[in-house]
Amino acid sequence: MNKNIFLVGTHWGDEGKGKIVDVLTENASACVRFQGGHNAGHTLLIGGKKIILHLIPSGILRDHVKSIIGNGVVVSLEALQDELNDLKSNNIAIQDKLFISKFCHVILPSHQAIDIAREKYLGKASIGTTGRGIGPAYEDKVARRGLRLIDFFNHEHLISRITSLIDYHNFLLSNYYKSTPVSLNETIDKLVPIFKSIKKYVIDVTPLMMEISTNSTIIFEGAQGTMLDIDHGTYPYVTSSNTIFPGMTTGTGIGSDKINYSLGITKSYTTRVGNGPFPTELKDDIGDNLAKWGGEIGATTGRARRCGWLDIKILNKAIELNNLNGIALTKLDVLDNLEKIKIGKDYNSFSDVADIEYLEMDGWQTLTKGIKKLKDLPKNARHYIETIENLSNTSVDLISTGASREDIIFIKNIFE
Ligand code: IMP
Repeated sequence: MNKNIFLVGTHWGDEGKGKIVDVLTENASACVRFQGGHNAGHTLLIGGKKIILHLIPSGILRDHVKSIIGNGVVVSLEALQDELNDLKSNNIAIQDKLFISKFCHVILPSHQAIDIAREKYLGKASIGTTGRGIGPAYEDKVARRGLRLIDFFNHEHLISRITSLIDYHNFLLSNYYKSTPVSLNETIDKLVPIFKSIKKYVIDVTPLMMEISTNSTIIFEGAQGTMLDIDHGTYPYVTSSNTIFPGMTTGTGIGSDKINYSLGITKSYTTRVGNGPFPTELKDDIGDNLAKWGGEIGATTGRARRCGWLDIKILNKAIELNNLNGIALTKLDVLDNLEKIKIGKDYNSFSDVADIEYLEMDGWQTLTKGIKKLKDLPKNARHYIETIENLSNTSVDLISTGASREDIIFIKNIFE
């Protein structure tokens, strides 16, 4: 089988991509991350055990799958080490399964210090970042002063580049943000041994992806979500990379012609962490209940996620931006208790909440968790799904009704 799949969250992230990737990788040879860093967080429930991945693609949980980190990802060596230790302690094999692009930019402790100091400095105007140093690392990439994994192969060269970079970071930290500078020596002493331990995974991954995408199946796993895209999202309340389809091509070196199917991951309601506009946000008991029932606590930061109704206007934008072929509708079971359900259909602006046109329908008030066939879903749940299909002109090809691998309804075999 040779069918490559691109997968992206249609709203502000946390749509439940990790679980869908995990399910799809059963039929794949490789799973690829192409942007972002350890700001992402996938919570997976495997055999009753909770595993949280931030940087390593979810495919690592399967023995036959190669997990590849493309050049577009920014890598924190410390976070990578922590995650590898966590996987090892869960007896998950890594050798011959993990490949990291040598062209990935590295997130330094000073990037994280700048991220945190800047958010504090911005106060009420802060972005609400994950505080992982993602933005500052991408800034250095674009400014052409960043450090890449390839720089760690030559020690002298590394010392020269890291010295001038941290010198610059410390100037910013001390003089602009009035914050504590970081130690160059401590950074080097910490990162060099970690690099040595992970060096075996660091290669040029593009030829590997080219080969697998030609002969077999790759799942390209977007992190964050469409509306957090640096160009097309709710700027400035976005992340610092292109989360949408073109981010996949630049973040891997693999052409768009290699993708056979693009899947949008859409949560049955909408959530957002961090600041910025959220038209269909619910600031009432229903919102609080969705957060409670959906376990809407950020996997990376532990922050409570803001909750609201499904926003079709954004879904349609995501379909256009990512050229989506189908939708995986997740967390349908979270709506099980509701008497009435709304869908945000249209509005003029992101900030005018009074202007939103909603479509209201009856809930199903029956448990959906674990149902295996579309026809076995309650009538009103099917009506909800059909309404989404009609409003978006896109088919719902998968439905997730719970956190486990088993809680899934396949409507269409997207590998065919
Ligand atoms: P940064 O990516 O840490 O710079 O954060 C920028 C914005 O993206 C903030 O609103 C974060 O909450 C949001 N963000 C970053 N990563 C994720 C994610 O994986 N899920 C949801 N939101 C995210």
